[in-house]
Amino acid sequence: MQIKYSPGRTRTSDRVVNSHLLYQLSYRGIFNPSVNYNSVDYHSRVAYYYDMKTITFNEKFIKALKNTKRVAVLTGAGVSAESGVPTFRGADGIWKKYNPMELATFEAFNANPKLVWEWYNYRREIIRNIKPNPGHYALVEMSKIFDDFTLITQNVDGLHRLAGSPTVYELHGNIHRNRCLDCGKFDYTEEFDQLPPICDCGGRLRPDVVWFGEILPKEVLDKSMASATHAELFFTIGTSGAVQPAASLPVIAKQNGALVVEINLEPSEISYICDIKYYGKSGEILPQIVAKTKELKDLHKEKGK
Ligand code: OAD
Repeated sequence: MQIKYSPGRTRTSDRVVNSHLLYQLSYRGIFNPSVNYNSVDYHSRVAYYYDMKTITFNEKFIKALKNTKRVAVLTGAGVSAESGVPTFRGADGIWKKYNPMELATFEAFNANPKLVWEWYNYRREIIRNIKPNPGHYALVEMSKIFDDFTLITQNVDGLHRLAGSPTVYELHGNIHRNRCLDCGKFDYTEEFDQLPPICDCGGRLRPDVVWFGEILPKEVLDKSMASATHAELFFTIGTSGAVQPAASLPVIAKQNGALVVEINLEPSEISYICDIKYYGKSGEILPQIVAKTKELKDLHKEKGK
């Protein structure tokens, strides 16, 4: 079978190849758009690109890793993808298969609470059986390395906490927590005998996640904004940058002078404001950044003696 270069999305094994990837492959001399590769050759070239495990560090980034004290990180669904949690957008994204307006709005919950609860139970079931990946653990390490470190996430899966991150600002709530619509009490029951579940007070329980059209938890958002404003180095990891107000955080950081680093499989809607971009898996890139920072900080100490 002959495969020709074609911009746009093309399915290859279990990976999504887009025009950006094909550009990267050609740029690195792995792929020549004018050549008709046979299927095996083509796939092995794509796999080679994904298996390139070593990243490079430019001078600006090295300086920042060495000297920065205030670091903030925003993560999205991509950081959990290697653990097996599906992302929302992209070819295999959740919102390609399901309509968010029928499952992730208060109106949907009011209209059909049982369906919405079934959907969240299904997602809980996926999350219950997975573990944090090297990307989550690298962020735990980062919290120990930098003096002032803030981890902000749009993810509701709780994997950052499970990995051991001490403080996590969960902008979109947590799928393991329920909240009563009447008394506001939190509840941590994972499975209910009857759907939709009812609180002791008689009120309806809902998953404590932020749905479309809802306001984010004020304190968490305020703290996240403040961290973005004061950060010297800001990482945006595994997020499409498509959802506000989370997508504004890297912009706020940039406007206030931070060096902004993006880690993603492909360019996002906020790539244009990022100073340094790594395109690959966060579970492979983050541990290298941590290792480099440790190395640099030790060197720094030596020099300061
Ligand atoms: P998206 O699904 O929109 O984007 C996930 C991003 O992760 C994409 O840009 C992917 O390219 C990238 N990605 C996938 N695998 C990766 C990997 N292994 N390493 C690095 N990057 C990877 O998810 P979010 O940006 O988190 O909101 O979506 C934001 C919000 O939209 C979610 O919190 C959710 C959703 O609707 C609510 O439910 C309120």
